[in-house]
Amino acid sequence: MRTARTIAELRGHINTWRSKGERIAFVPTMGNLHAGHIHLMSQAAHRADRVVASIFVNPMQFGANEDFTTYPRTLSADSIKLAENGVHALFAPEVAELYPRGMVHATRIEVIGLSDILCGASRPGHFTGVATVVNKFFNIVQPDIAVFGEKDYQQLLVIRRMVSDLCLPITILSVPTVREPDGLAMSSRNGYLAADQRLCAPRLYQILCAAHEHILKGERNYTLLAEQGMQLLRNAGFVPDYFTVRRKDDFLPPEPGDSQLIILAAAWLGETRLIDNIKIEM
Ligand code: PAF
Repeated sequence: MRTARTIAELRGHINTWRSKGERIAFVPTMGNLHAGHIHLMSQAAHRADRVVASIFVNPMQFGANEDFTTYPRTLSADSIKLAENGVHALFAPEVAELYPRGMVHATRIEVIGLSDILCGASRPGHFTGVATVVNKFFNIVQPDIAVFGEKDYQQLLVIRRMVSDLCLPITILSVPTVREPDGLAMSSRNGYLAADQRLCAPRLYQILCAAHEHILKGERNYTLLAEQGMQLLRNAGFVPDYFTVRRKDDFLPPEPGDSQLIILAAAWLGETRLIDNIKIEM
């Protein structure tokens, strides 16, 4: 596996592969890799000749009071995992490589409408930071395909909308969430949970599953389901941020007859904010 710390180095590797007509898949990450990330790498490897992964803790997507400085940085261990799992190039730039003039006056990509609801309402600027850095990566790597996990479903929608609105010639592949045996969605932030919080954390998915069951059995009062979901989260020891049923492809509130829905939730356990979702096909 090649490791590139600069845009020029990475482009050198990619140009060599492109000149042989090889297809490139790209998987962006912030590192601290777990089995969910590795699954994204293997999905990428099935669909292209070369897999490029990035590890970059992107300051633009963190709020002032968030965990940018404490976010786990485990580059050596991550590099070994990527090399063992078929990744051909790792791009691990310093902040100044991607934001050479700093962030305050940096050009941004704002995906209107999807960026300021749900997680975006609690984390102002977060999705602008995500869209901006992913757009930079897309311009640097110019992949045929890019792979994203479905746990961050709002992020996935933001990226899909950006690709569509900016006419980027990139296929976005989404991959279902990988879960721990007790159902908790894998996340780099799970490592923040204390032992008692870790025991409680799978309730988030269980409460989503219960709402999913109600809908499959015919419940269509989504407002009531959302209120019940919030209350169940509180009873389980969470401080819920939101619990909501939306249309899967645009996050608008469901209209009668809509069949492609998703239930989304975000909730705090102490200092840790967990998100999860479950798709509904009726
Ligand atoms: O999902 C993540 O890890 C990040 O938001 C991403 C897509 C790598 C952008 O920094």
